[in-house]
Amino acid sequence: MYMEFCGFSLRNHLFVAPMAGVTDRPFRQLCKRLGAGLAVSEMVTSNSLLYGSAKTRRRADHAGEAEPVAVQIAGADPAMLAQAARYNVDNGAQIIDVNMGCPAKKVCNVMAGSALMQDEALVARILDAVVEAVPETPVTLKIRTGWNREHKNALAIARIAEDAGIRALAIHGRTRADQYTGEAEYDTIAEVKAAVAIPVIANGDITTPEKAKYVLDLTHADGVMIGRAAQGRPWLFREIEHFLKTGENLPPPQVMDIHAVLQEHLQDLYAFYGVDTGVKIARKHISWYTRGLAGSAAFRKNMNTLPSIASQQQAVDDFFLRLAQHSGHPEYPDVMDTLADVNSLEALAA
Ligand SMILES: Cc1cc2nc3c(=O)[nH]c(=O)nc-3n(C[C@H](O)[C@H](O)[C@H](O)COP(=O)(O)O)c2cc1C
Repeated sequence: MYMEFCGFSLRNHLFVAPMAGVTDRPFRQLCKRLGAGLAVSEMVTSNSLLYGSAKTRRRADHAGEAEPVAVQIAGADPAMLAQAARYNVDNGAQIIDVNMGCPAKKVCNVMAGSALMQDEALVARILDAVVEAVPETPVTLKIRTGWNREHKNALAIARIAEDAGIRALAIHGRTRADQYTGEAEYDTIAEVKAAVAIPVIANGDITTPEKAKYVLDLTHADGVMIGRAAQGRPWLFREIEHFLKTGENLPPPQVMDIHAVLQEHLQDLYAFYGVDTGVKIARKHISWYTRGLAGSAAFRKNMNTLPSIASQQQAVDDFFLRLAQHSGHPEYPDVMDTLADVNSLEALAA
């Protein structure tokens, strides 16, 4: 399962997708511990660097993070992106990932994220500038399949990327116009994989070990990248790894196992963000861990009123103890049914 990636030896070819407001250091660490080969950090916009905001500084904090540290940058100006790449490498980034995959208005209004795919000449200038700014560091790129369904130019962008010295490409199987609607398609990813020599990572709607295998077989991609399905289920990577190795599914986690992972995650969040922000950020994760479980709607509503670490932890402990008394195996709903709840990009504003 080992994978050579950008000069690093990864435990496997399973990647955590960058998600603003989600893939902070505690979440990345947890996913790596529970089976992910690589976790890309939340994007650091080139603009916010200029202001040196607390959020940007926190996003660039990689203390104790398992290697390799991959940081995503976003923006539309080649010089500013080059500067952002340099800043992050000087602060510990070992891989720089350029975001041309995000459809969020906050990013796209300034012609960044996936909106950039419209302007292939600008893509080339950006990638050349970033690669040149950090010659010692591998640069990767994340894109969608195109601007809209009539303009799927992933292949053209992939060739530009390869020429610019980009070392790997992650492709989300939707166009920018699709946002998060409809189902991801993987034929375009397969087409790009067949045409370029750099590693291609397939992304979009991968929710189970079976789906991961299906996408790998169909696209011949070098790895898969998982975002929403890992929210509240960081052990998904271990489950996929096991299935790909053995063809068998691991037994689902017991209630007490989930409780233990969540407790560990909470401790990390409180330590990383401090009490006030930690308690607020934790609510979102607690809600993901418990979605679909018996009694979770009322539990989540109450959770939003609890102001302290002690009250939050107590409520979590009570919820899981009650659940454990009923069943050792929580009955999760199909994760696809719940993706609609969790794919809100509101987190970007957080
Ligand atoms: C809350 C949220 C935040 C995201 N933030 C980013 C981001 O900062 N950069 C990026 O390239 N993609 C971002 N994405 C897109 C994901 O990386 C991924 O491409 C997308 O969710 C599809 O994968 P999935 O179906 O496994 O979730 C975000 C997605 C979500 C749901």
